[in-house]
Order: sequence, then structure tokens, then C-alpha cells
Amino acid sequence: MTKKKAFRHLLRVGDLTREEILHVFGRAEEIRTDPGRFRDRMARETVGLLFEKSSTRTRLSFEAGIHQMAGDTVFLGGESQLARGETIEDTARIMGGYLDMIVIRTFGHDRLERFSRASPVPVLNGLTDSHHPCQALSDFSYISRIFGTLKGIRMAYVGDGNNMAHSLIEGAALLGVDLVLATPTEYRPDPQIIREAEEKTLANGGSVVWTSDPLAAAKGVQVLYTDVWTSMGQEAESTVREQTFRGYQVNRELVEAADREVIVLHCLPAYRGKEITAEVLDGPRSHVFPQAENRLYVQKSLMLFCQGKE
Ligand code: CP
Ligand code: NVA
Repeated sequence: MTKKKAFRHLLRVGDLTREEILHVFGRAEEIRTDPGRFRDRMARETVGLLFEKSSTRTRLSFEAGIHQMAGDTVFLGGESQLARGETIEDTARIMGGYLDMIVIRTFGHDRLERFSRASPVPVLNGLTDSHHPCQALSDFSYISRIFGTLKGIRMAYVGDGNNMAHSLIEGAALLGVDLVLATPTEYRPDPQIIREAEEKTLANGGSVVWTSDPLAAAKGVQVLYTDVWTSMGQEAESTVREQTFRGYQVNRELVEAADREVIVLHCLPAYRGKEITAEVLDGPRSHVFPQAENRLYVQKSLMLFCQGKE
């Protein structure tokens, strides 16, 4: 196989520099406003989607984006030989022989890292237990579009210190966002990810702060973000989690504590009455549907970036 030219994997937000992210965002805006200009950019290419967890948005936005750029897709769910014990490395080499790029949704982040090390083509993280970079990057691009900037934007994340929280932390630290995370103490984000982020804020501005107090976190923020209390793969813990997270709901009280112009974001799927009330999710401050649509534009841009296409 001779398809090796310079390419990049995207495993986590922290793989990118601030300049690279801003470049991806700029291209995403061009794609959003003039999609026709990009309609042949993936002609004669085939992208594989290897998903070991459920998905609506990620699968559809990648597949639609690839088709819109004249590429083809092949979806592989739980029926692959991986489920029967074929190694990750063998799977990566085989898939890389047939495909031009691979999007993976899996459990442990180490599975994705092992896959990417063996893959001869770009690998994009479509979500692992620890990171969801395509979602977070899309969300920062959306915030930038709404507010015209990211530097100095005040943002609160309320809920579980999960994959979504980790990717938002890494993005905030690169993009100069002031991010406060409010989670129960036993569900705080990975301290190592926070430490690395704090170091990056020294160069880029912004801040990353953890608290257990959701109301204090929401005070005066321009962006209020939440995610499910029970992520995919944690279903056995859902009863305990619902009790622990009860005080970490995005509701009217938190919205009223925030800035008057606050936008409420949620990566979705949402569970009304749990991590967010129906009143807020379906209310005037909610931007969750245009937020979800933005995945299409940013991921098209990310794919071109990972393939080294100008
Ligand atoms: N937000 C997100 O990644 O949604 P899906 O799980 O539907 O892909
Ligand atoms: N934290 C959630 C995000 C879903 C898009 C999960 O991993 O299930």
C-alpha cells in the first residue's frame, strides 16, 4: 500500500495546537457558508467507521459530511472480528489497507491509542471513555461563532467529570476560555488532565477551575454546558449516579445565576428531568440543536486537516 503521505491522528483535543484549532475553525466556517466549494474534496476515498458504542449524531454527521465531499463510508458495528478476539493491531492494519481514514468510537482510550499506532491511515476519535474531541472542538467553534471570540469567554460545565468534561478542559486551556467545572467530589475530572490544562493556560490565557458548587460555577457565565450523568458503558451505576448528581442539574436557578445572554449547550442525547430540565433544554437560552448541526462543518474540516489537505 502506498497511501502514506503526511497525516495526523486526532485522539484528543490536546493533540492539536491553538493555531491548528483556529485553522480548523476557519475552514469549518468556509465549509458551512460555501459547502459547494468542498464537494469533491474526498472523491474516490473511503472512510471506515468502527463503532463499539451507540451513536446518532457522530455517525450521521461523519457519514453525511463524507458523502457531501464525494467520499464513501463503510460502517462496522459490534459485528466485527474485534468482538471475537482479533487484536486491535491486526484490525488496524487490515482496515488501513482498505480505507483512507477511520473514525472510531470505543471504550478505553488505550484501545484507540493502540489502534492509531498500528494504523497506516488517519484515525479520528469518535468518542472514548475519556475523550470526545470532535464534540468539544465543534462546540468551541460554535461558541466562537455566537460570541465572535473565545478569549475570556466565561463557561461552566455542570455534571459528571467525564469524557466530555476532559475534552472541554483541554480545549478551554488552548483557546483562552475561563472554564469552571462543577461536579460531585467523587466524580471530578482526571486531575492529570486538569494539571496539564493549567500549564497550557499560562501560555494561552483562560483558566480551568474545579468546584463542587454548581450555583457558584454558573454565576455570570456566558456558556452553561452539561452532559448525561450516566455515560455509555456505566449503565450499571445509573441508580447511584442519579442520587449523587441530583444537585447538579442545569435548571432555571442555574440559568438565572448566569449572564442574561447565556447560551445553554448539551452534547446530547439529553435526559429531560435528569441532568437538565425540559424547561431549559427546550427554552429560549438553549442552543443544543444548532450546536449539534455544527458537528457536520467542524468534522468535515477536521477530516481535511488530518489528511493534510490544504
Ligand atoms: N453527542 C454525540 O456524540 O452524540 P451521539 O452519541 O449520538 O453520536
Ligand atoms: N458522556 C456521554 C457522551 C455521549 C455523546 C457518553 O459517553 O455516553
